Amino acid sequence: MRSESEVPFADVPFTIPVADRMKRLPPYLFGKINKLKYQKRVAGIDVIDLGMGNPTDAPDPLIQQKLAEALADPKNHRYSVSNGIGNLRKEVSKRYFKKYGVHLNPDNEVIATIGSKEGFSHMCLALMGPGDTAIIPSPTFPIHMYSVMLAAGNCIALDVRDPYEFLRNVAYTCEHLVPKPKLVIVNFPHNPSSTTIQQDFFVELVALAKKYNFLVISDFAYADICFEGYQAPSFLATPGAINVGVEFTTMSKGYSMAGWRIGFCCGNAEMVRALATIKGYYDYGIFQAIQIAAIVAMRHCDAAVESLAAEYEIRRNVLCEGLSRLGWNIQKPKAGMFVWAPIPEPWAQMGSIDFAMKLLDEAGVAVSPGRGFGEDGEGYLRLAIVENSNRLRQAVREIGRCTRVEAAKAS
Ligand SMILES: Cc1ncc(COP(=O)(O)O)c(C=O)c1O
Repeated sequence: MRSESEVPFADVPFTIPVADRMKRLPPYLFGKINKLKYQKRVAGIDVIDLGMGNPTDAPDPLIQQKLAEALADPKNHRYSVSNGIGNLRKEVSKRYFKKYGVHLNPDNEVIATIGSKEGFSHMCLALMGPGDTAIIPSPTFPIHMYSVMLAAGNCIALDVRDPYEFLRNVAYTCEHLVPKPKLVIVNFPHNPSSTTIQQDFFVELVALAKKYNFLVISDFAYADICFEGYQAPSFLATPGAINVGVEFTTMSKGYSMAGWRIGFCCGNAEMVRALATIKGYYDYGIFQAIQIAAIVAMRHCDAAVESLAAEYEIRRNVLCEGLSRLGWNIQKPKAGMFVWAPIPEPWAQMGSIDFAMKLLDEAGVAVSPGRGFGEDGEGYLRLAIVENSNRLRQAVREIGRCTRVEAAKAS
């Protein structure tokens, strides 16, 4: 072998010329926090991780059993179809009818996606291009913004914490922006703020979509996790919605199948076809055994979904009541997997990133700083109720311990 000095151009520096679209992605805000979390774990220190909406519970045993069975069948190991197998799409359509009274044609109004995030991103790629603008929710679940940016579109972020103010701002933007927004993205129950709506929100949104000629994508990831009798409305249950948009759902949250990567896009046939076309180039579909297990999940596991939602409600109460006792100003969310907490005094000035670092470092509790969801998220923390009630009680105790001394000094 030749030595390094004998290799031609060995000392010429070489940089990888990534595409311009990569430059539209911001520096990673959670880098410092993730590094500290990793260091603690490596040092064997227990971290209570409320950072991500990543369920810690396993899917119902029936779903696991069906996956094991399907795994044993050699024909399930081939490439599947990119749109999802027919029986899966039929099951999704049945579930929409059962839950929301919505009729969907499984042949052209339903498509399976590799988790809803994949489908969402590729839908943006199919719809958006240079010069196109999307209105997105603020604070922002990052993929809602960066799917549009990676597709070379522009974003206008509008605060969704007052949903009716959001609608007024959508109308105002459509009146004044030239060219008008092409797409409005909504996500209720909202990540990260847990804001919820009633069906009348969608009635008004569909009317605006028709008036101003924009498309709608509803991200309905937290459809199944609702508390105290609240039922999150489906966009597609609104008269006329199917003419203007689609809705994404997922098995990640309500069925605890996050790692399985299975979700759905339903609604407007032309939008579904556009996504199918892109996916036809990019992927060969979801592992078929997972699709088969997902059919069983939707057919037989309603009770498991309900009891999981009840479990999240208990965790929500434990965390919210615990933080309230510490003097935090907490509102219990009506749905979703997150508590969106204003940073209490005297730490509010510290900024959400530094306060989240402090909680990780001194209390061993990982949370997401609101700043990670855009400027409107500053001043807040997002705590995911993914750990069990005992761990959440422990998290509250540790947060109390690490903040008590300074709170006493400040008062
Ligand atoms: C609002 C929202 N949409 C989509 C997703 C992604 O879900 P999936 O696992 O189906 O890709 C998440 C996950 O955290 C989410 O919070």
